[in-house]
Amino acid sequence: MTNVEAIDPTRCTAWDSLLEITEKSSTTTIRDLFTSNPNRPAEFTLEAAGIYADFSRQRISQQARDLLYSLAEQTRVLSLRDAMLEGEPINTTEDRAVLHTALRAPADQSIVVDGVGITDEVHQVLTRMGALSDAVRSGKWIGSTGKRITDVVNIGIGGSDLGPAMAYRALKDYRERSITCHFLSNVDPSDAGEILFDLNPETTLFIVASKTFTTLETMTNAEYARHWLVSALGDHAVARHFVAVSTNAPEVAKFGIDVENMFGFWDWVGGRYSMESAIGLSTMVAIGKDNFRELLQGFRSMDEHFKAAPPAENLPLLMGLLAIWNRNFLEIPTTAVLPYSQYLSRFPAYLQQLTMESNGKRVRRDGTEVTYDTGAIVWGEPGTNGQHSFYQMLHQGTGDVACDVIVVAQSAHGHENQQDMLVANALAQASVLAFGRTTEEISADGTRPELVAHKVMPGNRPTTVLMVQKLDPFTLGALVALYEHSVFVQGAVWGINSFDQWGVELGKKVALGILTDLQTNTSQDSQLDPALVADIDKYLSLKGSN
Ligand code: F6P
Repeated sequence: MTNVEAIDPTRCTAWDSLLEITEKSSTTTIRDLFTSNPNRPAEFTLEAAGIYADFSRQRISQQARDLLYSLAEQTRVLSLRDAMLEGEPINTTEDRAVLHTALRAPADQSIVVDGVGITDEVHQVLTRMGALSDAVRSGKWIGSTGKRITDVVNIGIGGSDLGPAMAYRALKDYRERSITCHFLSNVDPSDAGEILFDLNPETTLFIVASKTFTTLETMTNAEYARHWLVSALGDHAVARHFVAVSTNAPEVAKFGIDVENMFGFWDWVGGRYSMESAIGLSTMVAIGKDNFRELLQGFRSMDEHFKAAPPAENLPLLMGLLAIWNRNFLEIPTTAVLPYSQYLSRFPAYLQQLTMESNGKRVRRDGTEVTYDTGAIVWGEPGTNGQHSFYQMLHQGTGDVACDVIVVAQSAHGHENQQDMLVANALAQASVLAFGRTTEEISADGTRPELVAHKVMPGNRPTTVLMVQKLDPFTLGALVALYEHSVFVQGAVWGINSFDQWGVELGKKVALGILTDLQTNTSQDSQLDPALVADIDKYLSLKGSN
């Protein structure tokens, strides 16, 4: 059997055993698990690359956890991992290798794709990125009127936006404060309109970030920005105010950007796995090349752990397997990511693309339809803000939600008492999500009898606590790599291709057809369904009445 052949996990003996256990333990609560084994924190905690992961509040016994390891073995997760790391084309529908790990490999590591060593190329691009970022940060790179750059606008969408936008916020404390980065992604003209309103063309540098350089939203926004710039400074200014990040040199040149100012990457980097490639140019300009190197080092440290750690100590492996347990055996459809760090405010959005575009699939790698659930819905907001919004439902709603609570121990701004307050909230929530409050406990507090039922908290929400000392570039890299590899493990067990995204293509094509109808003021296209005809007519009449 080849590494990429898809195994139906439901045909594995471990799957059946897991189903049996699920049935037998269907009334076992997280409280029960702790009562029968108070040593769970020691037994369900792993640490790697500076990330401490406490899985003790997951609703799972040791026996079930051991069976998950058997499931990983029977679905050949680690063979697929090795195939990925060695550059086999495991993205079968696009016939591509999946080598985001090569983006953070040391220069002397040999990784070969189609007979070509790729780490050299990766490091050449990093060196060029470093030179540009040094020049912008030092003021050596000047705009067409001789002024230094104060604002950098990354124009991109999906993986060409979410990673850089997340990382910029996460590492704000490390940024060069004289330069502000902006992230222009939405084709909604108000996104470009609002961002550019406050900027000065003379001091603005645009990074057009698009793997394909054909994405409608990005190219439309890039044209908008060029028009804005040229209207103020003339055509000749484009060379000093636009650089590109892409795999598509001919399109970059066609747009008018000097390919000298293009930073390349490769088709073996998926969009949602690209934040540490040249797509991270805005991140590097913001935090500098040395901090960017630290970010790569954090990624690499988690990669090395994922590659080498034995299964029982392998953090991404266990995290991925617990996600399988929650999704397929406890049948929990959604995971809330709850970072107790304002710096991680875009982390849930970043993880949405990473997990949902990767594992929102319904056929296995061989095209056969799955008969089990795949990727969970991922969402979230930073604590403590979320507590005053949707946590009510997490605690007392009828649906079950798995939760990842992310805790950062050291504040970047001192005020330790305030940091203690933040962390106390994180830990309190993790505890209450898992253990809840029983009728007896609420009554014992002296609560009026008629209110007791309203105050009971069922608890029993599977909750992971991830804790790091400090949110520095290294730790951010390790954290992202942890989730990347956990997503990989889930996809590998499900037998799906986590690296393509065919589901987003049809919508793009249909939108182009509708655009023609909107621009020719007609809904008479015979291909349109009646609902579309009605909505187009309504839109055209409302638009006309502006
Ligand atoms: O529409 C989905 C997608 O292809 C993502 O996978 C990708 O991150 C995004 O679009 C942007 O693509 P590009 O970098 O080619 O503009």
